[in-house]
Order: sequence, then C-alpha cells, then structure tokens
Amino acid sequence: MTLRTARKVVWTVLVAAGSGERFGGPKQLARLGGRTVLDVALDTALAATDGVVLVVPESSMESMARLGCIVQKGGATRSDSVRAGLARVPSDADFILVHDAARPMASGKLYARVIEALERGELAVVPVMPVVDSLKRSSGEVGLISVSRENMMVAQTPQGFSASALRAIHAARLDTTDDADAAERIGIRVSSVSGEAHNLKITTRSDLAVANALWEIGVRGIDA
Ligand code: CTP
Ligand code: MG
Repeated sequence: MTLRTARKVVWTVLVAAGSGERFGGPKQLARLGGRTVLDVALDTALAATDGVVLVVPESSMESMARLGCIVQKGGATRSDSVRAGLARVPSDADFILVHDAARPMASGKLYARVIEALERGELAVVPVMPVVDSLKRSSGEVGLISVSRENMMVAQTPQGFSASALRAIHAARLDTTDDADAAERIGIRVSSVSGEAHNLKITTRSDLAVANALWEIGVRGIDA
C-alpha cells in the first residue's frame, strides 16, 4: 500500500552502509521500539514511495536480503553509497529521494511534502529546520566569534530530486555530506520544505535514547 496518490514514479535510496563510529557500532541495527532503526526507516520508505534501494555494508548483504526492496553494497563514503544505490534505481523513476537510515523517525508526511515540491517542478528539495541555538565560529587566537542565526537552517533527509538531476549530481563524483550540497556545487537550485523536529539523526547513543522516548509516546515514522 502506498500513502501517495500521484502518478509520478518515486524511488528511495536508503543509505545504511556507514560504520557508526561515533555511535560505537552499527547504529542501523540498534533497537528502536522493539525493532531495528533500519527496519523502521525501511518501512516508512516502502510505504511512502514506489520502490527502495537499500544500501548496506558488504558484510550484511545476505542478512539484509529483504522482500520488497533491492539490496546494494555501499561504498567508503556516504556519497559513494548513494552513487552505488542510484545505479540500481530503475530508469523509469521520475523522482528519487535519498534518505539516511540513521533518521528512522522521518514521517510519511515528510516524504509527501518533499514529493509534492518535486511535483511542483522543483529539481532538488531539502527538509529544513530553523537553528535554535546561538551560533559561534571558532577562530583560533581571536577566540569564538558569534554568527547570526537569522536565515540559518539545519538540513534533514529525505532529500528529493528529479531523477535526471540526481544522476547529473552524482556523475560529478563529488564527496559531500549530503546530496543538496553536491547539487548546489553543480549549479542546481535547491529549495526547502519544513522538516520535522522529531526527525533526529541518530549519531550517538543519547540520540537513540531520545528516539526511543519519542517512540514510547507514540511518535512513529510512518504516521507521525
Ligand atoms: N552511510 C553510508 N555509507 C557510508 C557512510 C555513511 O551509507 N560509507 C550512511 C549511514 O549508514 C547513515 C547516513 O549515511 O545512514 C549518514 O551517515 P552518518 O550518520 O555519518 O552514519 P555513519 O557514517 O554510520 O556514522 P559515523 O560517521 O559516526 O561513522
Ligand atoms: Mg559518517
């Protein structure tokens, strides 16, 4: 069953091939609401889009062979993993979303918002949240320098692209922390939609504790 009614063919590249160094191990296999971070992220992607390429480390290729999605071996960097996944997306895809499995709390509504912006003709779409903390730049001998947070945004995933734009972006073989950055660098205009406060990225164990606490009070990726 899909949550989407539009005619466009939408695929997700779900990247889960990182080693979780800051977490202290493969965080995609950590427990979230009695399941794994990866299972929760995959369920939402499968419900919200027409197909999913799941990108995992070579060591987990066999155990990850799952009904309903294409499983692909990742690369050394996130950008390499996205490129490996992108190569497996069928050629009839109109739009491709790239999502970090480390953000299992992204809701189906957020996927829909990104897809709607693509349907309006945007080529690259990023969910963003306003910065709430005061910002400082480290400046060596001068010490910290305050930076205005006006117009500053924190970027999330899923980030959405027209399929041809994403293929052009990755043909440039740039190494960036997200795909929107690579899009900008090749001159593609990136637009924004509202992100979600609960769409946290699990980087450390305290992030996982927060995600589980949200889960306990009923926040769910699919229908949050
Ligand atoms: N990722 C990937 N392939 C890589 C590196 C990262 O597919 N070579 C994925 C991760 O699995 C994650 C997402 O990209 O879903 C965002 O990366 P990050 O949060 O940095 O995860 P890790 O790289 O696993 O963590 P760390 O940087 O702490 O090692
Ligand atoms: Mg990383």
